[in-house]
Amino acid sequence: MAADDVWTTVDDYLVGELVAEDEALVAARELGRERGLPPIEVAPNQGAFLALVARMAGARRVLELGTLAGYSTIWLARAVGAHGHVTTVELDPRHAEVAQENLARADVGERVEIAVGPALDVLARLAESGTEPYDLVFLDADKANMAAYLELALRLTRSGSVIVGDNVVRRGAVVDPSSDDPSVQGSRAFLHALGNDPRLEATALQTVGSKGWDGFAIARVR
Ligand code: SAH
Ligand code: DHB
Ligand code: MG
Repeated sequence: MAADDVWTTVDDYLVGELVAEDEALVAARELGRERGLPPIEVAPNQGAFLALVARMAGARRVLELGTLAGYSTIWLARAVGAHGHVTTVELDPRHAEVAQENLARADVGERVEIAVGPALDVLARLAESGTEPYDLVFLDADKANMAAYLELALRLTRSGSVIVGDNVVRRGAVVDPSSDDPSVQGSRAFLHALGNDPRLEATALQTVGSKGWDGFAIARVR
């Protein structure tokens, strides 16, 4: 068996044992496929991981960059509970429209606001507006701007808030300092900032599974 196949087989096993994906989550992924959105949502066990991080952090307010069809958004919205709030930012209005349908079906539409626009603009606007701090930020939009998103996230969080970044390994591509891929350079700048900013304590983990070989970075605001 090729490595990717065995990773997927193990993921299927882990998900079967541990992750209860209900109809709304399955339907969210499927509607994304039906409408031609790219199949780049987190895996079920990764969604459950994000939800656990949110619960462990006691998160009531979550900020997500990159909504896609709302699959990870549903996990996060469930994790914050009925009195919690998720702000999720999406550049593509067609993605936002699919996500809105999926969130309504999952019955979390009321606790989620989809902000449509470039994340840099939306975050700058949120920071200007002096909004209440977020307890958890999930960075999963374009990777070229990861370092800028981190800087803005620090204006939107408090001591103890958690920041998670997706896709920081990209099949190992992240180790190439001369890469001409803006996603790689963005992830590298992000990781460098995480490791060198005195306001943060952070680490990163490689992952394999149904989404291939990738990784998460996780940080806590001091
Ligand atoms: N978090 C989702 C996956 C997000 S995929 C999940 O796991 O279910 C990345 C998304 O980021 C795509 O929908 C893409 O349209 C969006 N995106 C890309 N560039 C963006 C930008 N500059 N601002 C906001 N969203 C962006
Ligand atoms: C891509 C984006 C993601 O957020 C992800 O988890 C996987 C792939 C992409 O743009 O290719
Ligand atoms: Mg991602």
